[in-house]
Amino acid sequence: MLPKACRSAYLRLVTEHAPRSWDPARLPDQTGRTYLITGANAGLGYFASEQLARAGAHVILSGRSPNKLAAAHDALEARVPDASVQTLLLDVSNTGSIRAAAASVRGGLFKRQRLDGVLLNAGIVHTPRQRETTRDGRELVLATNALGHFVLAAELLTTLSKSASRTWTPRMVWLGSMSTRMGAYDPVDIQLERGYHAYRAYVQSKVVVQALGIEADVRLRDAGVPVESVVAHPGYSIGGRTPRVQGVNEPSAWKRFKDGLQAPIAQSKERGAASLVRALVDPAITGGEYWGPRLITRGEPTRQQPSRTSSDPEVRQRIWETCERLSGMEWPFARAARVAGR
Ligand SMILES: NC(=O)c1ccc[n+]([C@@H]2O[C@H](COP(=O)([O-])OP(=O)(O)OC[C@H]3O[C@@H](n4cnc5c(N)ncnc54)[C@H](OP(=O)(O)O)[C@@H]3O)[C@@H](O)[C@H]2O)c1
Repeated sequence: MLPKACRSAYLRLVTEHAPRSWDPARLPDQTGRTYLITGANAGLGYFASEQLARAGAHVILSGRSPNKLAAAHDALEARVPDASVQTLLLDVSNTGSIRAAAASVRGGLFKRQRLDGVLLNAGIVHTPRQRETTRDGRELVLATNALGHFVLAAELLTTLSKSASRTWTPRMVWLGSMSTRMGAYDPVDIQLERGYHAYRAYVQSKVVVQALGIEADVRLRDAGVPVESVVAHPGYSIGGRTPRVQGVNEPSAWKRFKDGLQAPIAQSKERGAASLVRALVDPAITGGEYWGPRLITRGEPTRQQPSRTSSDPEVRQRIWETCERLSGMEWPFARAARVAGR
């Protein structure tokens, strides 16, 4: 790794020369890099995978359904000639599935020894009306959107830190949401045991995700682990404004019509994915930052400020400790720093 002063100078240089606009079809060359995307069979995860593959990256498409993964794999190969992709079965609401998937990545899935970034994208957007729990008793929305990714990131931390080089610090990107600004959601009853509401479950889970993403970066720096943590959100990205892709996005005529009425405030998932991909690959971005569309719900990726609650140090620390307790997982910071030679 470069000494800190050199790295800052390099980043200044890159920033000064970085194009002001971000064109998802003209990313910095990603040849030789490997990225893992959760929930890659549909929506933002699929389109992020396409953008990365088009730029030359090797992309691990992960998802919980073998059939949907196969369809996404076929679609991506058809739309991006020469794409380098593989699939990985991974249900982020199931700890056993996370551990098994992470073990195959650590074991050098398809002989690839490096992992340059992880997009922690999978999520339940249309949350259940009634409170549901996972097999190990965790509230389903929290478990899927936040806890599963907390465990996955921990499981992949040493693989990421081993992949750090003089020119690239591996990254994890967490999926936040602009909904975290709409109300003061401080997740004290983190599993909504005292009262469940579908919308609250979503927003709380996203406050947790954002807090984890920001806190992870602080802890990674403190421990000297060469991995960055960034939070990004896609604004308001909807299927009916998104290109049809067989087996991946096939909205009905009614959905196209309905979503078309929201055109002034919405964008396609393909465009929404741009903020996530920029957060994952732009060398001018550093850990702890928050990225999203320029007009909040749509537009080009820009740097923004996260909601006050999710960036509050006390809230972050409380959420981190609660996630450690609920998942039974502590991040292997010391080992990750050691394997990177720190
Ligand atoms: N769209 C927006 O405007 C918006 C705004 C803010 C944040 N976000 C966030 O962006 C992410 C993606 O949203 P999207 O709009 O692309 O949603 P989407 O089209 O519904 O896609 C969600 C993806 O997550 C996967 N998923 C759900 N539960 C899973 C599990 N237990 N294990 C593995 N994969 C699972 C889904 O797989 P299946 O097909 O198997 O269900 C699907 O691939 C979410 O985290 C969401 O909260 C979206």
